[in-house]
Amino acid sequence: MKKGSSSWNKSSWHGFTALQQPNWPDKARYDQVIESISTLPPLVFAGEIRELKKLLAKAVEGEAFLLQGGDCSEEFSRCTAPNIRETLKVLLQMAVVLTYAGGKPVIKVGRMAGQYAKPRSSDTEMVDGKEIASYRGDMANSVEPFAEARIPDPERMLKGYYLSAATLNLLRAFTRGGFAALRRVQAWNQEFVKQSPMGRSYERLARQISQALDFMETIGISTDIPQMKQVQFFTSHEALLLGYEDALTRQDSTTGDWYDCSAHMPWIGDRTRQIDGAHVEFLRGVLNPLGIKIGPKHDIDDILALIERLNPVNEPGRITLITRFGARDIEKHLPPLLRAVKSSGLKVVWTCDPMHANTFTANSGHKTRNFDDILTELRSFFELNWSEGTIPGGVHFELTGDNVTECIGGARHLADEHLGRNYQTTCDPRLNAEQSLEMAFQLAEMIRK
Ligand code: PEP
Ligand code: CO
Repeated sequence: MKKGSSSWNKSSWHGFTALQQPNWPDKARYDQVIESISTLPPLVFAGEIRELKKLLAKAVEGEAFLLQGGDCSEEFSRCTAPNIRETLKVLLQMAVVLTYAGGKPVIKVGRMAGQYAKPRSSDTEMVDGKEIASYRGDMANSVEPFAEARIPDPERMLKGYYLSAATLNLLRAFTRGGFAALRRVQAWNQEFVKQSPMGRSYERLARQISQALDFMETIGISTDIPQMKQVQFFTSHEALLLGYEDALTRQDSTTGDWYDCSAHMPWIGDRTRQIDGAHVEFLRGVLNPLGIKIGPKHDIDDILALIERLNPVNEPGRITLITRFGARDIEKHLPPLLRAVKSSGLKVVWTCDPMHANTFTANSGHKTRNFDDILTELRSFFELNWSEGTIPGGVHFELTGDNVTECIGGARHLADEHLGRNYQTTCDPRLNAEQSLEMAFQLAEMIRK
């Protein structure tokens, strides 16, 4: 396959440079694993993917709002019912707060059921004076700080597939089987959050919703309908390991089109979005809605060319731009990008990832983020969109339903010295359940307008 060639097939990316791939030592075993994954069932279906794209097309027009969130890096050992349930709960809570304030549908997309591969800024790291390969996510190697543990093992992709299937199975059960019914809105509040100011604000809101439902019942309007009992929940992850994504790419029998069926919404990372790179080549041929991460080091013309390459027919809902510039730099980087994309007439969902450019190392040595920086970037994102006449269409968070201590700040004033209490993440620091809910209430003020 020649560079720039227009013919695409799900493996045409092999002719291009793929950055950030693990260096699989056992090529034969790698090929066998990829072959077995390609015969296993798809994780999601084309019809669901098309449904998400339709909703995102509404977000382009400001008629829906995207809430995307979950772990920086899911871990095999944390693929448990309580972990999945608690993260889902906090996303549902945030969505209720945002729907109530914004008066428009909130599209719920988890960084879940497949967020197992990580790009790294360095191939190696120093541990106790020894240089070892970097951790690249549970689907590639182990986080254990030993040279042998860091050797990429293709069996991990198979395990990642099965755990993604298990996670999705539970998510589908929870969101379709009554757990996510609006009648249960009060039950999503977690014990440790209930006592906090955020928890109490949520209780009040949940009570109002329950009363509205009671009122409807009283006057004879049935609330026993699917919209009240079920939630549409979608999955996403960074499409990083191209062999794995390729193996789960399937042709839809009803349309003949190709979809990456590893998740509804794959995204392309800030480090792998080169226009002549393998990730772009792969993603241009699948019809999923795509996220594109954009950090401070971007070039505007590259971004315009990239959007056109990935969405040549300018289909609304196909492209979600996920900007991550940092609280300090967003004012410098976002307005020129908003203007350029707007004047090119490209249809995109503008979303803000206020996490990835606000990371720093605390005095305690923990990698952290400050709640206030996250909030500041979000506020600027909304204000800059309003002043440019573009539409702030969504947000992207790293969060968990656990009571972790990874980000400082928030209503409980979590400080440096508290980070060690329950610091769990193997990659980037996440907002805990209470901080996430607080963020949703702050966001509600922004989208109310
Ligand atoms: C991430 O979302 O975890 C990530 C690595 O993002 P980015 O590509 O924006 O750095
Ligand atoms: Co991250």
